[in-house]
Amino acid sequence: SASADASRKRVLLAAPRGYCAGVDRAVQTVERALERYGAPVYVRKQIVHNKHVVKTLEERGAVFVEENEEVPQGSIVIFSAHGVAPEVHDQASQRRLRTIDATCPLVTKVHKEAVRFADEGYDILLIGHEGHEEVIGTTGEAPEHIKLVDGPEGVAQVEVRDPSKVAWLSQTTLSVDETEQTVAKLRERFPQMIDPPSDDICYATQNRQVAVKRIAPQSDLVIVVGSTNSSNSVRLVEVALEAGAGSAYLVDRADEIDPSWFEGASTVGLTSGASVPEELVQGVLALLAEHGYTDVEEVRSAQEKLLFALPHELRRNLKES
Ligand code: F3S
Repeated sequence: SASADASRKRVLLAAPRGYCAGVDRAVQTVERALERYGAPVYVRKQIVHNKHVVKTLEERGAVFVEENEEVPQGSIVIFSAHGVAPEVHDQASQRRLRTIDATCPLVTKVHKEAVRFADEGYDILLIGHEGHEEVIGTTGEAPEHIKLVDGPEGVAQVEVRDPSKVAWLSQTTLSVDETEQTVAKLRERFPQMIDPPSDDICYATQNRQVAVKRIAPQSDLVIVVGSTNSSNSVRLVEVALEAGAGSAYLVDRADEIDPSWFEGASTVGLTSGASVPEELVQGVLALLAEHGYTDVEEVRSAQEKLLFALPHELRRNLKES
């Protein structure tokens, strides 16, 4: 019974969690570029949305900038995993920058879908979060024809040229359930709306949400490791609460955990976003152990084997070295 278990403090550790193939590739891209070219290597925007990763790479000589203008002419600049608008490539070539594009291939896939739908004369309803870098990049592929829909509440305001000629796409890191609601509402307004050729919400986002849903109903508290600007990490907190977690918090690292969260909690759920190194999760596990949560059970709902090759610009240069 629940009362008999109250003294037993346990951790349910979600799997899969942490690094996805796109993040792994983007981080490795910066590391390999530093080895190959030496510091400084410029990176436009945070390579992935994780404070710890950015800081570690900075210490090794990566210089993070917001825009191409901050990069000295002729230098190397890496574009982040979230993707960039075509004009960012144009600006870079005007400044004679040597670019390495670490855009996740699953984001590039969405860019290609946008270009194709726009070429075919569709207005594209892009479901995503306003201001997120991925949304800015994707929108840049066809700015005239892409309308942002920021969740179910955004559906009523959308305006299109021809309601019989619309398609929808999405950001890769959204809540699967909320996106279904948004799509259903859009379809009420635009019954002829066309679907993307395949899921835009990526495998990693989906798998991490399924995994946290498995542990949340049994967890008095769910801790999600991730940065506040990481879309998929923030979604994991929302999904955990929806799935019945007693409470759920996002922390960058163990030292942000408030011990008062543990009061009355016999089961703590733990997971991490797709941009989070496993060492940060291990740090949280160590802290949990200090508070008596020593019984750790990993609950795995999928195996992940996907790996992406490094960007071709980098592979070519590594071969020459
Ligand atoms: Fe790519 Fe999905 Fe990761 S889009 S960067 S695999 S979260």
